[in-house]
Amino acid sequence: MAAFELLERDGFARLGKLSTPHGVLETPALLPVIHPDPERQAWRPSEIARRLGVRGVISSAYITWRTPPLRAVAESSGIHGLLGFDGVVMTDSGAFQEHAYGSVEVDPEEILAFQDRIGSDIATVLDRFTEPDTPSAEAEEALRTTHERAVRARAARRGLLAVPVQGGLDPLLRARAAREASGLGDVLAVGGVVPLLEQYRFVELARALTAARPHLAPEAAVHLFGAGHPMVFAFAALLGVDLFDSSAYHKFARRGKLLFPEGTVDVDTIREPFCGCALCEEHPLSEVAGWSLAERVSHLSLHNLAVSVREVARVRQAIRDGTLWELVERRAVAHPALRAGLRAATERPELFATTEPESRRAFREIGPESPRRPSVDRFSRRVAAFLAGRPVPRSLPRLPLRPEYLGRIPTSDRSGAPILWVSPTFLGAVPLELTELYPVGPYLGLEEFEQPRASVSPSLLRELLAALPDLGAELNRDWSAAWTERQIVSLLEWQFGRPSAEVLAPLLRGERSRRTGRLRLLTSDGRPAFVLGDDAIPRPTFHGATRLKEAVGPGRLRVHVAEEAAEFARAGRSVFSKFVLAADPALVPGSSAMVVDDSDELLGVGRLLLAPHEMGRLRRGVAVRITSHARAPEPEPEEPAEGPESLYPERE
Ligand code: GUN
Ligand code: ZN
Repeated sequence: MAAFELLERDGFARLGKLSTPHGVLETPALLPVIHPDPERQAWRPSEIARRLGVRGVISSAYITWRTPPLRAVAESSGIHGLLGFDGVVMTDSGAFQEHAYGSVEVDPEEILAFQDRIGSDIATVLDRFTEPDTPSAEAEEALRTTHERAVRARAARRGLLAVPVQGGLDPLLRARAAREASGLGDVLAVGGVVPLLEQYRFVELARALTAARPHLAPEAAVHLFGAGHPMVFAFAALLGVDLFDSSAYHKFARRGKLLFPEGTVDVDTIREPFCGCALCEEHPLSEVAGWSLAERVSHLSLHNLAVSVREVARVRQAIRDGTLWELVERRAVAHPALRAGLRAATERPELFATTEPESRRAFREIGPESPRRPSVDRFSRRVAAFLAGRPVPRSLPRLPLRPEYLGRIPTSDRSGAPILWVSPTFLGAVPLELTELYPVGPYLGLEEFEQPRASVSPSLLRELLAALPDLGAELNRDWSAAWTERQIVSLLEWQFGRPSAEVLAPLLRGERSRRTGRLRLLTSDGRPAFVLGDDAIPRPTFHGATRLKEAVGPGRLRVHVAEEAAEFARAGRSVFSKFVLAADPALVPGSSAMVVDDSDELLGVGRLLLAPHEMGRLRRGVAVRITSHARAPEPEPEEPAEGPESLYPERE
């Protein structure tokens, strides 16, 4: 069943849509846990939906099944009738109760059939809950049972099925569980993690999620069982979680605890009305402490849910903005355990390689974990590869790449041998001509303020260069044109490899922005061929792509689409995932690629939304957004905005 569509992404996080019989969930989404017994539930789901805009909930099919009066209502009016809610209802199978009480008296077929009968939108297989510290052999045995049950459940169920991913702490078992679940579930539900969450074992949670992620089918939604504290939503979303369920809002409320993304607060300590949620505006927290227990629980649980729902919305906005790493780093200071979890998540940054976006609008340094982001790792590796086999670099101070500076810096010595200049950045020394690239170019951090670039004037620069021993280069000439040439070939090499750069560079002329001096356009035959935005990556126009296609050779940088989609691409319409036949595996989300048909004819140039391995597998949604196409005039390049925050024009 093709139920999941991906709209935006950041890290492993996905902004998506999960379609169900009772509506669409915009993910990441929080499903509040609703007790099937209305007596045990402080707020009706319809009330929660009305107040907080929640579209889906999760409830226990097992508790409903084992409680005759509830079961009778569910059998006659369905789970939606029992809960009085016509939004999305996911049901859980009783695995957690089986784990907590030792056994459940229902068999896996019966509880699955029951979920079917009561009209659950997403039914869950009765899995074997595996404690984190279970020995591997035992965890493997439990996994085998879960898998057998999942295979039978899939055969029996037409509707959406959640297949749990167990495996304990053994990364190989988690990977295997993820692979096995992937062929069967519409929702892949990472389980057995409640003890990790309760005990703040975020390092192990990060390892379990990163072990599973590469093996989880990209076309399925990923659920995390039992993650309900708003402190962890951003973190878990970053590691690929699309759906959360929360009973925490209620459990914490019973103990007089308020949930915030920054941590937990005891209501008895509150003397100031510092929460701005709608409910706390009505009844300030400082009053609530004196209420009766039932009133207090009811108030606190709705506050907790409101804060949780808002935090998940915040996560979705951050995915849209490409700022999820920043949000996660901000949240991680809530608790050292969470910081440790974040550090564990980036232990192997190469895991993110295939889905890590090519660039973002900004790189804002939040704290000591910021340099551990995968984008930094990727950039550092590529700089090292760029430097290999080049002359020994000479160091320059931090400089803006403006003609008044560049004009004074020789690119070669008197014998014509190139001089390689490196400039210090927060990533270490970077070749001067690459310092505009993401993440270094749009970097905004301490360094920007502690060592402002403008402190070196062009005339001071000349003095600095004159004082360098055995430079052997002319200092009285204007080197700006040589720099433009150097930068063109270097950026092309960075993006397309050296052989392609050598073919392309002689065909191209560079234009700098009059306002900022930054290289922003490459033309060939007087027409725009590559446009450079804030990330300094040369992105081809249709005209440029006709040159690029020859220069890079067969297959490379291509997305090959089926004939039925070719006409649409040619006319500038998006390429849908289901029409993609193949894509160059070196491409990543955000890359510019050439969209071609069966005969390798260029139809258009587009930006990837999906990673190559996801294309074709997601049956809904867009894989490539066309930016320049066969049947259209060339777009005029826009002047790129200057840096991430126009209020503080920190660059130049
Ligand atoms: N609720 C909390 N953890 C789990 C789990 O591992 N499996 C299921 N089915 N439900 C859960
Ligand atoms: Zn509040």
